[in-house]
Amino acid sequence: MARVITVLSGKGGVGKSTFCANIGKALSKNKKVLLIDGDISFRSLDILLGLDSMVVFDWADVIFDRCNKEKARLFASDNLHLLASPVSLSDSLNTDKFRSLISCYGEMYDFIIIDAPAGLNELTGIYAECSDEIIVIATPDSVSLRAAYITGESLVKSGKDENSIRLVLNKTDLRQMKKGRQANPNEAVDKTYLRLLGAVPMDKGLNIASDFRVYPLLKRTNQAFSRIAERILGKDVKLYL
Ligand SMILES: Nc1ncnc2c1ncn2[C@@H]1O[C@H](COP(=O)(O)OP(=O)(O)OP(=O)(O)O)[C@@H](O)[C@H]1O
Ligand SMILES: [Mg+2]
Repeated sequence: MARVITVLSGKGGVGKSTFCANIGKALSKNKKVLLIDGDISFRSLDILLGLDSMVVFDWADVIFDRCNKEKARLFASDNLHLLASPVSLSDSLNTDKFRSLISCYGEMYDFIIIDAPAGLNELTGIYAECSDEIIVIATPDSVSLRAAYITGESLVKSGKDENSIRLVLNKTDLRQMKKGRQANPNEAVDKTYLRLLGAVPMDKGLNIASDFRVYPLLKRTNQAFSRIAERILGKDVKLYL
C-alpha cells in the first residue's frame, strides 16, 4: 500500500506545488509515484509537469463515477503519474470519498503525494486525515515560519501524530542565512516545533516567472531534492544546505 503524503503550508506561494513536482521526479527514479493535485480552482501540477494539454478527466471524475481510475491518470514518465484537480466541485466531498480514491490507487504506487492549497480548511483537513505523513513547506522568514508553526499545531490538535509531520524550508539562501538575514535550520525548527526534512535553495530555474525552460536547475537544487527523497525513504542522509 502506498505511503500517502500531503504537502501543506500555512502561507500561500511558498513552493508546495514546485516541491511536489520535483520530489515526485526525485522519488520516481526508484519508486512508483502518483501526484494528486488537490488545489481545486488553482491547479498547477499539470503545467509544472508539462501535461496541461492532456487533461481530460480529474480525480473528482473518479470519485463520482464519471470515469474509471485508469483514464484519469496522466503519465509524466513511467513511474510518475498525475491526477489533475477538478476546477470546481459540484458534488460534496468528504473524507470517506477521498479515502476511497486513495485506496483505489494505493496498491499501484509506492507513494501518493497530495499537493494541497494553502492554509487549513475543510479540504486540507480531508487530505490530512487521509495521509500517513504531512510535509509542511515554509520559506525562512518569520511570517511563513509562524504560519508553519500554527499549521503543525492544529494538525496535532486534530489528532495527527507529531512525528508524522515534517518541515521543508524552501527558497533558502546560504549567504543571507550566514548574514543572519533569514532563519537558519535551527531557528526554523525552534520557531515551528517541526522536525526538519530538508531545505531547497532559491533557484531561478525553479521559478516559473523566470521560465524554467531557459534556466537549468542548479546542481545543489537537484542534490537537495535527491537528499530529501532519500530521507523520505528512511536513508541516513545529512542535511546540507
Ligand atoms: N526554491 C525556489 N526557488 C525559486 N523560486 C521558487 C522556488 N520554489 C518555488 N518557487 C517559485 O515560487 C512561486 C510559488 O511557487 P508554488 O506555486 O510552487 O507555491 P505554492 O505554495 O504551491 O503556491 P499556492 O499556495 O498558490 O498553491 C512560483 O513562481 C515558483 O516558481
Ligand atoms: Mg500550489
